[in-house]
Amino acid sequence: MCGIVAAAAQRDVAPLLIAGLKALEYRGYDSAGLAVLQDGEIHRVRAKGKVREMEAEYLAAPFPGGTGIAHTRWATHGVPNEANAHPHVAGRVAIVHNGIIENYASLREELKARGHVFTSETDTEVIAALIEERIAGGLGLREAVLAVVHGLEGAYAIAVVSRDEPGRVVGARRGAPLLVGVGIGEHFLGSDAQALIQVTNRMIYLDEGDVVEITRERAQVFGLDGRPVERAVRESELSADAVERGEYRHYMQKEIFEQPRAVADTLESRLGANGVLPNVFGVGGDELLAKVRGVHIIACGTSYHAGMVAKYWIEEYAHLPVAVEVASEYRYREAVVPEGTLFVAISQSGETADTLAAMRESRRRGYLGTLAICNVPESSVVREADLKLMTRAGPEIGVASTKAFTTQLAALALLSLQLARQRGLDDARYADLCAQLQALPGAIERALALEPQIVELAEHFIPRHHALFLGRGAQFPVALEGSLKLKEISYIHAEAYPAGELKHGPLALVDEDMPVVAVAPNGPLLDKLKSNLQEVRARGGELIVFADNAAPMDGNAARGHLLRIDAGGEFIAPAVFTVPLQLLAYHVAVLRGTDVDQPRNLAKSVTVE
Ligand code: G6P
Repeated sequence: MCGIVAAAAQRDVAPLLIAGLKALEYRGYDSAGLAVLQDGEIHRVRAKGKVREMEAEYLAAPFPGGTGIAHTRWATHGVPNEANAHPHVAGRVAIVHNGIIENYASLREELKARGHVFTSETDTEVIAALIEERIAGGLGLREAVLAVVHGLEGAYAIAVVSRDEPGRVVGARRGAPLLVGVGIGEHFLGSDAQALIQVTNRMIYLDEGDVVEITRERAQVFGLDGRPVERAVRESELSADAVERGEYRHYMQKEIFEQPRAVADTLESRLGANGVLPNVFGVGGDELLAKVRGVHIIACGTSYHAGMVAKYWIEEYAHLPVAVEVASEYRYREAVVPEGTLFVAISQSGETADTLAAMRESRRRGYLGTLAICNVPESSVVREADLKLMTRAGPEIGVASTKAFTTQLAALALLSLQLARQRGLDDARYADLCAQLQALPGAIERALALEPQIVELAEHFIPRHHALFLGRGAQFPVALEGSLKLKEISYIHAEAYPAGELKHGPLALVDEDMPVVAVAPNGPLLDKLKSNLQEVRARGGELIVFADNAAPMDGNAARGHLLRIDAGGEFIAPAVFTVPLQLLAYHVAVLRGTDVDQPRNLAKSVTVE
């Protein structure tokens, strides 16, 4: 992944670059660096660790300069250390890079044979050396970048400066995001709008293969063939406040508590008094959805769990067959696509490399159409889809996804309702499901009020090394999501199982050191779940049960810890039950003293394979 910021301005840019990097830290945070051109020299600072470590080094010996590039890294090639941190310098060239160059090993050997000496293990230094060679051969910076990117395989977003061309930054993207910020008498490059919103809200979103040159005066975009191309300037709706942490201790906590608002925003003007409003999936959306005979949902991580919930909904209410698959698997196998199948990509960022590649692959496979459910309007996934439904979660900074998930569920609930209605779901049932969905923000609000009890529960997890999560039906993906949250941020090994599978293996793990978290909505499967819980009790396991207010739980079934929740109906229960599991993971992580918003080894937006 990694985050990129670059600037060509009159003022000193290092402070702007550092502020931009801080907004991009969600993309990687194992080392950071920046380089500024000044008086024909490249001044560079790099440090292992977070941006603030690099900032401290910069502040100890600051340097002026109006042209610069900067980077926060998520290691792919080479361990996180200063030598592997970007920018990388080769002769007169300095470069920052996000992505993976797949043919870097052969390029590196060729360069070595021509006498290049490498100072890092990165694929990026290879790009720097190739550009330097081209400039030494007589090309200008832009021409050199163009010539070099033609020979690169894999994914890249880069920003490059040359000592010989002060005041100029050249960028290029293919398979990784990059956009231009248009200021007054200054221009910027960034991996996303959040990085640039402190300096401008006017953005140019680059297309695949674009090369861009920025100076103080202008930003010029070129196609891969080197010819100038026009790209529109758009005003970003992002507000600088949206990326502030406010009174909360962590972004994750803030984002958990933003869920009632985010879900309400996602439903606004889409769910009316009589149901789902016309064409909320885009122009012609309803006609296309009416033709759907089956659905394939593709996503990664938390977004994949949202897709799994939707399978239960769509199959139950619309009686359409649904297959859900992680994108990294789907893209490399021959999926059978029956006629009339809709391809649905779910992605918070809209830039996840595997999801994007799967979507491109789907074009070849003969789908009826593609629908993107996404949180970032200008992202690649959204731009390439036929239909789109934006989740309106606002920027999500915490690496562990929370409000993105519940807003995805809200969007998928709208899709399920629309598909069901078109296939004859009866009036009374439709009205009931719509009413439940309308009530979802309130139900989430009530679940958030459980926080004090969850803090107490969290104490039990402090010394634990493992945990099991159980759910049945549409609550199984919720159990998966709860266990993912716990392992991501508290580093406790957690697994989730459909409760009925417990006896087929994982029960062997249950003893007094194994907390078992169960999600128990009221519904036809409750009695079955209770039997599964008895199996745990009988082996001395510690039970933590989140049960619907309306679910009859006798003392025996719930021995251990029982937390009551008003789930607000079977349809919306998965979204509501997610909330206490998010809070549990959050407070366990806080008590264990981990880096909640930026857990080790992870990054939020995974734009590499
Ligand atoms: C990363 C993040 C997860 C996220 C997944 C998919 O692994 O850490 O939180 O669920 O990517 O991201 P997307 O942006 O496609 O939803």
